[in-house]
Amino acid sequence: MFYDPREGLRPPLTHNPINALVAPRPIGWISTISASGSANLAPFSYFNAVSADPAMVMFAPNAKPDGERKDTFRNLLEVPQFVANVVSAGFEEAMNATSADFDTDVDEFDAVGIAAVPSRNVRPPRVARAMAALECEVFQFVELPRSRTGRGSNLVIGTVVGIHIAEACIRGGAVDQLSLAQVARLGREDYTIVERIFEMQRPRS
Ligand SMILES: Cc1cc2nc3c(=O)[nH]c(=O)nc-3n(C[C@H](O)[C@H](O)[C@H](O)COP(=O)(O)O)c2cc1C
Repeated sequence: MFYDPREGLRPPLTHNPINALVAPRPIGWISTISASGSANLAPFSYFNAVSADPAMVMFAPNAKPDGERKDTFRNLLEVPQFVANVVSAGFEEAMNATSADFDTDVDEFDAVGIAAVPSRNVRPPRVARAMAALECEVFQFVELPRSRTGRGSNLVIGTVVGIHIAEACIRGGAVDQLSLAQVARLGREDYTIVERIFEMQRPRS
């Protein structure tokens, strides 16, 4: 089949295929803080690295169904710093619990029972037990075009200013992906975990 997504979904599809076709997507478990000091934690799978050197990442918080800004984005407009905590196997239930639509003044670390520790170079705290976390400063906000339904979305590009990695996840001078066991998002409500790896050398010219 072929269709132009700008014209809406087409049978036999009943689900937007983008989530399934651009997958797996790593999950940035994003912590932010408001100007008054209230912390926030929520998962974003429209999340990825955009540059290794300089180290930069991006994620895209869209608007709530009622058009309001999500707390994460609201906080970033007040304090333009965030931590992208890595979600490893075993953290999926806690991560999912933090995606609930809590009131703005609710700290998801407290509400879900996730231990927080101070970050080194940014104000938002990080997930204490996360195997890895990237401390970031906002480099740029990009307002995306509104969807057919009028829903807004923003791209947040961040410069990484601090990297935490659990010693157990480092082997031979590199990150041991099997120990990190990242959880990633597929289409619908499906997820995958990095547990099978193969190696391939680049062609030599
Ligand atoms: C695995 C997962 C991935 C998600 N990815 C996104 C995303 O990329 N963008 C987005 O706006 N919401 C995403 N959400 C929904 C947000 O986590 C949810 O709207 C949350 O309540 C936002 O929290 P906040 O209002 O505290 O910022 C995702 C939820 C889950 C469970």
